[in-house]
Amino acid sequence: MIKIENVSFKYKESEMILNNLNFQINEGEIVAIVGKNGSGKSTIGKLISGILKLKSGKILIDDIDISKNAKDLNQKVGIVFQNPENQIIFSNIYDEIAFSLQNLSKEEIEKRIEEALKKVDMLDALNKDLYTLSLGQKQRVMIAEILARNPKYIILDEPTAMIDSLGKEKIYEIIKNLKKQGYTIICITNLADEILLADRTLILKNGQIASEISKNELLQKIDIFKKYEIKLPTILEIIARLKENGINIDIEDYNLEQLVSSLSKSCKG
Ligand SMILES: Nc1ncnc2c1ncn2[C@@H]1O[C@H](COP(=O)(O)OP(=O)(O)OP(=O)(O)O)[C@@H](O)[C@H]1O
Ligand SMILES: [Mg+2]
Repeated sequence: MIKIENVSFKYKESEMILNNLNFQINEGEIVAIVGKNGSGKSTIGKLISGILKLKSGKILIDDIDISKNAKDLNQKVGIVFQNPENQIIFSNIYDEIAFSLQNLSKEEIEKRIEEALKKVDMLDALNKDLYTLSLGQKQRVMIAEILARNPKYIILDEPTAMIDSLGKEKIYEIIKNLKKQGYTIICITNLADEILLADRTLILKNGQIASEISKNELLQKIDIFKKYEIKLPTILEIIARLKENGINIDIEDYNLEQLVSSLSKSCKG
């Protein structure tokens, strides 16, 4: 479990970014963090992963205070950023992933690389030049690089912001599979549709969690998204507009198939 307790943060020259922030991430869940540009989402990711140093408040990862045990933290949390091209060091995929596994035996490194590439469906690319891959494929290798270090918590900071729609879908599938394998995932996002991946969505405003919405409350809490000017996932937007026109749709999973099936029933009925 990750606990953020009374965390406040400002950059040297900035105003207060996080203001007595409190929230918790439970094991095995996907949590989306949304909020306007500049609201401090990436700052939260960097604090949890230890890239930025905490100045006030506490972050506990599995009950360990990260300011007291940075080494443990390094192994438990992996972070992937928006632009894979800023993170690539080597053109060879093996070298790229092996770079962060330096203290392990050759056999262990090979095993980890193979397993990690399998999880992102990129094992076929092992001998390819990283620079020749598409952005989506490069991002999948960046996720594999994190996975090879065997983290428990994965922070994805706008992982698909630069990637085309097919590439996005592939990464969504990978995120869902990682959850099934037991990883705990924080997905920082500006893309409404990524909210649908999450068990819970936290809305960040004025350096605090202004609202928290679980997946099964999405329909009832549409007004909260509007209040905080967070764009609704397309399917929810459609359902909300239909509701305004007197058509009530009740579906368990917000996907196109279910929407079409429910709409067809209500049209025929
Ligand atoms: N190194 C820095 N020095 C000074 N100010 C910074 C620094 N990094 C970020 N900021 C400021 O802190 C605020 C929060 O930045 P952050 O990157 O966490 O926001 P964000 O919610 O991730 O935004 P976006 O949606 O654009 O990615 C912004 O106003 C930003 O300009
Ligand atoms: Mg950001």
